[in-house]
Amino acid sequence: MKKSFNPFNTIGYVSEKYFCDRQSELKILLQNANNRINTTLISGRKYGKSALIYRFFEELNKENECICIYFDIYSTQNLKEFTELLAAKVMQKFPQKESIGKRFWNYLKTLRPVMTYDGLSGQPEVHFEFTQPKEYERTLTSILQFLDEQKSPVLLAIDEFQQVALYPEKNTEAILRTIIQTLHNVQFIFSGSHRHLMVEIFSSAKRPFYSSTQSMTLVEIPYSIYKEFIMGHFTENKKEISTEMVDFILDWTYNHTYYTQFLCNKLFACANRKPDLSYVKTICSTILEAEQGNFLQYRNLLTTFQWKLLIAIAKEEKLYQPQSKEFIQKYKLGAASTVKKTIASLIEKEMVFVHIEKEESYYRIYDVFMMRWMQKTY
Ligand SMILES: Nc1ncnc2c1ncn2[C@@H]1O[C@H](COP(=O)(O)OP(=O)(O)O)[C@@H](O)[C@H]1O
Ligand SMILES: [Mg+2]
Repeated sequence: MKKSFNPFNTIGYVSEKYFCDRQSELKILLQNANNRINTTLISGRKYGKSALIYRFFEELNKENECICIYFDIYSTQNLKEFTELLAAKVMQKFPQKESIGKRFWNYLKTLRPVMTYDGLSGQPEVHFEFTQPKEYERTLTSILQFLDEQKSPVLLAIDEFQQVALYPEKNTEAILRTIIQTLHNVQFIFSGSHRHLMVEIFSSAKRPFYSSTQSMTLVEIPYSIYKEFIMGHFTENKKEISTEMVDFILDWTYNHTYYTQFLCNKLFACANRKPDLSYVKTICSTILEAEQGNFLQYRNLLTTFQWKLLIAIAKEEKLYQPQSKEFIQKYKLGAASTVKKTIASLIEKEMVFVHIEKEESYYRIYDVFMMRWMQKTY
């Protein structure tokens, strides 16, 4: 591997230096942590929720001794898997050679877990084979109580939390809420990218988590701050970049964090001595070419009308009035009711998302690169 480090990260979190802004969000997270308020963090995919949680954990540990545990439940499908994943994460946090780790392990042994090790990461995995669903609930309660008994405060971030709404155990939210109410030393961040499900969990008066957290929506990093961040890293590494180029990068990627990072990463990796705007555009084309196979896969998975509508949305970039005569006629889309139904199905598939703005919300293709590819191809 090359020694010079690419400052534009596209996977996970590296360190503060390579993390742009989110100062106001960090401040709120810190305030909440200090005042025993649980936080709900919502944004579309790839805006930087998970990275922000890691960044926040790092910040928290600068000042206090704090036990921070992150677990992403996207892959879990029921309460059993949730409980097993939490047990595994706690084990990974407290290695057996430490005294807390020994205590946790001794406690866990009484539940007769089956231990395995992940073939790739080597990390421990925990499986329980209970016959009664109630036993998972009891186990979950005792794992959280174990955390509650620790001397240092505990912060538990559950990422992609909307998943619990899809579990077959319809009482999962009620179970979790009941346990959480008894804890004094464990605080939570519930993060999720499926806005509709997250809002239902936390804002519907009928649901157990109703009004129990402070909600925070993550939007784009402010343009001028991101611009400074990009220019700073290029300049620091003695690579030239003009303001014109950075403006183009941010516009082309909608400063949607992952896509901006990805384009900057590619440009940084290739930048010759005097790159110009046409060089940036060449890199953009290369990215779209590399992704084309994936985009075409979607065409096979969608109906002809879904695909047609997707192209129309891509061309509009920001679609404010999907049922307007003007939009429907421009792209020959037929009945407004069909457009409405199909947009709903594309949102469900996470191909399109509603960008909530103060003045007026709009629809946009989720994947910025796919949007650019469609604009270029059709
Ligand atoms: N503030 C930031 N500064 C720089 N890179 C970031 C920032 N936030 C996120 N990223 C990068 O963007 C990508 C997507 O972020 P991620 O946290 O996975 O998004 P989400 O959890 O919302 O889907 C990751 O590669 C991450 O490293
Ligand atoms: Mg994430």
